[in-house]
Amino acid sequence: MYDVLIIGSGAAGLTAALNAKENGLKVAILSKTYPTHSQTVQAQGGINAVLYEDDDSVDIHTQDTYKASCGLANKENINFMCKNAKDTILWLDKIGVPFTKNKNSKIAQRKFGGTKKIRTCYSSDYTGLKIVHTLFDQCIKNDVEFLNEHILLELIIDNNVCLGVIAFDIIEGIVKEFKAKSTILATGGYAGIYTNFTTNSFSNTADGLAVSLNAGVNLSNIEFVQFHPTALVNSNILVSESARGEGGYLLDQNEKRFVDELKPRDEVARAIYKKIKNNEKVYLDLRHLGLEKINSLMPQEKRLALEFSNIKLEHELLPINPAAHYSMGGIKTDINSNTNINSLYACGEVAQASIHGANRLGGNSLLEIVIFGKVAGVNASNNAKEIKNNKDKESNEFKKQKQYIKEIYTYTNEINFYESKEYLGKLFFDNVGLFRNEENLQLVINKLDEIKSKIPKMGILDKSIEYNKNLVDFLEFLNMIEIAEVIAKTAKNRKESRGAHYRDDYPEESKSYEKNSLIKKVDNKLILSFEDVL
Ligand code: FUM
Repeated sequence: MYDVLIIGSGAAGLTAALNAKENGLKVAILSKTYPTHSQTVQAQGGINAVLYEDDDSVDIHTQDTYKASCGLANKENINFMCKNAKDTILWLDKIGVPFTKNKNSKIAQRKFGGTKKIRTCYSSDYTGLKIVHTLFDQCIKNDVEFLNEHILLELIIDNNVCLGVIAFDIIEGIVKEFKAKSTILATGGYAGIYTNFTTNSFSNTADGLAVSLNAGVNLSNIEFVQFHPTALVNSNILVSESARGEGGYLLDQNEKRFVDELKPRDEVARAIYKKIKNNEKVYLDLRHLGLEKINSLMPQEKRLALEFSNIKLEHELLPINPAAHYSMGGIKTDINSNTNINSLYACGEVAQASIHGANRLGGNSLLEIVIFGKVAGVNASNNAKEIKNNKDKESNEFKKQKQYIKEIYTYTNEINFYESKEYLGKLFFDNVGLFRNEENLQLVINKLDEIKSKIPKMGILDKSIEYNKNLVDFLEFLNMIEIAEVIAKTAKNRKESRGAHYRDDYPEESKSYEKNSLIKKVDNKLILSFEDVL
């Protein structure tokens, strides 16, 4: 029995673990991969905080974040995050994150979009990676237990209380039960559903959300997916906003600038995509910045451009396109990272903590995951201290999942689900992407029904037990389908344009939709509604 069990080993999960551990409790992180493979390591450009109040303030950071949210966030929650930003950076600096320093040996900051202020702290363009490595070191030092290579199957819920999880041990190939007094979900976002059209890693398959939805956890604002303006053409590897923040230009095929590069991401991404839809090419131009600046501030961009696009940034234009990048929606949480299920918390990209609303500012995601990782860790551990050991009898969920995995081995394999997964990615990028409309969304919903009806004919070719990647891929695919349906249906329900959700057929923001969408599953039926922004 764990006191606090955290699912997901990105920066949110690692921060939660460190904070839960401070209470001297038994804390473990269960994760499908390894911390160093988490999505956080791909966050490049930086983390926002007002460090020096000469020209900026917590109020301005709060206002910028709220403005970007297009009215779908809670100002108090945002203010809480912005107020705690400086101490968070100083804490990260103290535990060893190698932030880039300026000439006065102070933490340097760069400009990001959606604000006129310079408040993004960074570690060249490896910020997420450096944060994860530092937090991981700290977790090891503090005896956090790691249950790597376990995929979440089900939450154990009794009388609206979470008692732990059922997970599949990928290495051994067996279903296991993990009881916990408090459980924290930090499983990341769902932009990976846009397979081949996303900056996300292969592991971002919405597992936490799908499992939560099926267990009666409320989700919110799933229709809001952020498209990053600049990804490498073909590979869709992220090209950090820092490239534009440091002075890079976006050029059309006539080598003319056509958009303010530092507008909020939704506006920049749409301006680029309009050109691309018109069969034009769009480029990022860093040539004028010079080799020295590129080497010191964007070594990763330089390497990625060369390795994946064969482009030398100091001499050539880099072709780019937008790609699905970040999930604004997620598990509905309050300021204390509580979900609607007792003893179950959520933090990081998997959570909808009323911070980003319809559009997230670059640099606010790393901030959110560390701040709310701490909130979740502290509250989950306080909760655990109040709870006596749960009854340790085998749960029904455990029996059910053992049976379910056995059954998967008997499925026929007439239809190749890998093809369906790729089809889904393109279907979503084309129809549930930067521009949406009723007809296309309905088409997607129909296609999803078709795919779902074929699931019994999909299955696994590899029938081995240990390390069965085919089985894990299949489980992930099922999770993606589950949440894909929610994205399409909530996008169809929101008959307006707001932030990242743009409808050709309803191009204006509508006051009557200044609400969050609420998603529940009751008796296996998806129930969608709107509720006031809390
Ligand atoms: O562009 C970037 O470096 C990404 C940052 C973010 O999504 O916050």
